[in-house]
Amino acid sequence: MHLQDKYTELLRNYIGDKGTIYFYWKGRVALYALLKSMGIGEEDEVILPAFTCVVVSNAILYLGAKPVYIDIDSDSYNTSLQNIQKLVTPKTKIIICQNTFGLSCDIDLIVNYARSNNIYTIEDCTHGFGGNYNNKPNGTWCDASFYSTQWNKPFSTGIGGIALLNNMQFQNNLEIINKQLLKPSFKEEKMLRALLFTRKNIITPSNYWMLLKLYRWLSKNKLVIGSSGGDEITGTNMPSDFFKATSKTQIKEGIKSIELFPILLKLRKENATIYSEVLKANGKKYVGEKYRANHSFLKYPILVKNREQFIAKAETAQIELGEWFCSPLHPVLENELYKWGMKATNFPVALHISRHIVNLPTDTNNIEKVKKFILDTIVDIL
Ligand SMILES: Cc1ncc(COP(=O)(O)O)c(C=O)c1O
Repeated sequence: MHLQDKYTELLRNYIGDKGTIYFYWKGRVALYALLKSMGIGEEDEVILPAFTCVVVSNAILYLGAKPVYIDIDSDSYNTSLQNIQKLVTPKTKIIICQNTFGLSCDIDLIVNYARSNNIYTIEDCTHGFGGNYNNKPNGTWCDASFYSTQWNKPFSTGIGGIALLNNMQFQNNLEIINKQLLKPSFKEEKMLRALLFTRKNIITPSNYWMLLKLYRWLSKNKLVIGSSGGDEITGTNMPSDFFKATSKTQIKEGIKSIELFPILLKLRKENATIYSEVLKANGKKYVGEKYRANHSFLKYPILVKNREQFIAKAETAQIELGEWFCSPLHPVLENELYKWGMKATNFPVALHISRHIVNLPTDTNNIEKVKKFILDTIVDIL
């Protein structure tokens, strides 16, 4: 069987047999292709949460459309229908619903509302592969969805993106657009293979922190393939090599990586339940049952009084905290948000959360160590 067909078949175990699957170099490329296939361009407005990664906003801006940010709900870390309705205009063409950290928004309500107002919906499942909302897999609710297989995502191919098109009226457009995808270069594939090899064979708990810092510095300076090269997060102009296809390396890695996914998913859910219990027992903010029942729990969000100090304590205790989303448009600094048409003070909930959030690791095999760390630092947690 062709490798891509095998990968598709494995993905189908989690996202059902409907819709058509397409592969890309990164998740953001999948989003860009979907928006383009839906005819998004100048004058159009696209609604998205004010608590996301800047590359989501950039995919909209690259097409000349306007991102319209919506404040989030503090329990689900996602947008609510109520907040969306306030900002819908005749120019609204798309609503992006996100699975932040694996949690869902009330997607059924949002999709029903969008349909009755002739607005299309796209589900950002970059954190939510493998989760469900009301027994329907993440990614199957909207007209289309996209997933990421970047390093820290539900399962990983180093970098990588997948689109699931559910509304077939856009299939022809999407397939024409996909013909323009650039092929990854030999050098890019070779570098990706080297990074995957390093992660598997060279990273150890003792050199993890040093190598992570080195990788981030190298990728920021475009010296290795990173999740985001400089201009993808520092500005709003589309890099000339942005629209890139997947590679054989990513497809092969996806096939291997997805085999471990059920074990990881189970572990993440179990650990999330333990974190909720510990936080609840100590009177701290925790993710409620409603939001965690069927979700994939890529990360476990907590809010802390002083993030810098908390992260320093975690490094000393060798706890790998996630640092998403430290700004309403991660990782853009608050004073730079205007470049993306955002005024952070218009989104008080997202702003507060982005100033205080850290993420506990849900894929740890040493939950006792993290539990002890939580209890040791409980006064620092909000
Ligand atoms: C919410 C969200 N959407 C989209 C993306 C983009 O995914 P990718 O890095 O595969 O382009 C990210 C990246 O981390 C993300 O966090």
